[in-house]
Amino acid sequence: EKGGYEHFMLKEIHEQPKAVRDTLASRIAKDNSAVVLEELSWTEEYVNSFSKIFIVACGTAYHAGLVGKYYIERLARIPVEVDIASEFRYRQPIIDDNTLCIVVSQSGETSDTMAAMKEAKRLGAKTLAVTNVVGSSIAREADQVIYTMAGPEIAVASTKAYTTQLIVMFLLGAYMAGLRGTVAPRRMKELLGKLREIPSQISETLEDVEPIKVFAKKYGFNTDVFFIGRALDYEVALEGSLKLKEISYIHAEAYAAGELKHGTLALITTGVPVVALATQKSVYEKTLSNIKEVKARDAVVIGIAAEGDTELTKYADHVIFVPNTDELLIPLLAVLPLQLLSYYTAITRGADVDKPRNLAKSVTVE
Ligand code: M6R
Repeated sequence: EKGGYEHFMLKEIHEQPKAVRDTLASRIAKDNSAVVLEELSWTEEYVNSFSKIFIVACGTAYHAGLVGKYYIERLARIPVEVDIASEFRYRQPIIDDNTLCIVVSQSGETSDTMAAMKEAKRLGAKTLAVTNVVGSSIAREADQVIYTMAGPEIAVASTKAYTTQLIVMFLLGAYMAGLRGTVAPRRMKELLGKLREIPSQISETLEDVEPIKVFAKKYGFNTDVFFIGRALDYEVALEGSLKLKEISYIHAEAYAAGELKHGTLALITTGVPVVALATQKSVYEKTLSNIKEVKARDAVVIGIAAEGDTELTKYADHVIFVPNTDELLIPLLAVLPLQLLSYYTAITRGADVDKPRNLAKSVTVE
């Protein structure tokens, strides 16, 4: 049942090329000019009626929502707010019938996410569920549904659900942008062309596990690990740190790189591992200067960079390269070494990877 892999998590990490390919299938027009979402069939008027979008979820799905905010705002230019479901439902959010509430849930059974969606609906919002399980409670309750086609995810630590959620978020952003005319046709073609290459780039990235195993052995017994990045790298850092905490029980924190100086830099001392993501070209120089700051405190820096980057190796102790693509799409690749790092770190520490202590796959209690 584990298809020759030692754990479901590793199997599911390696299923990502297929999961992403299946989630993209038939959702991009042949000539790459537009996203096709037959399950929605929205009109320009309908999408323009939304003055505000909320994305509500828990855990990894919340992290996918943070990336979704970027996609929808950058592509479709509609304001998006992302909330943790257990906070959203109690904070009296400002919602009316011009609000779209997108909930993201792999299982479709998370009780806080369900309750948040019901509250949004009660206040007049239209609801759209992004879920992996056909016929799940959340899928049944939502006005509309887009499925991720990840296939069953068994390991408690979510991997292929996250990458397929990112794909759906990107498709949604591009779909809304197509209806609103907020992305130039040439740029749309370029983005969708690059999106098609992602499944094979994921395979390519997953081939290179040896250096990651070495880092896991070398740093696996540290007590704290920091993840830093800017823009989309920050959202991926959050997911990387959750993954590490969840299965390897190492204290991990993610920070927006520019925030370090506002307090956290006090914790960066000799030998503290810092995983620094530097894939976002638009803020590259800024990220690099933050990396220099932690290096100046003798941190051990493991950098994540796009192929072709020749700068980072000068400052980081180690660099893991992922294939190059548009900076909007690179989170789909940058997260992979972080998933593998948490997996091999948990193995190094002898932890029960598929069933981490105190956690359940689906949280159906509050
Ligand atoms: O089924 P859901 O997507 O609603 O689950 C949400 C979270 O419980 C889940 O993503 C959790 O954070 C994972 N164990 C993280 O790996």
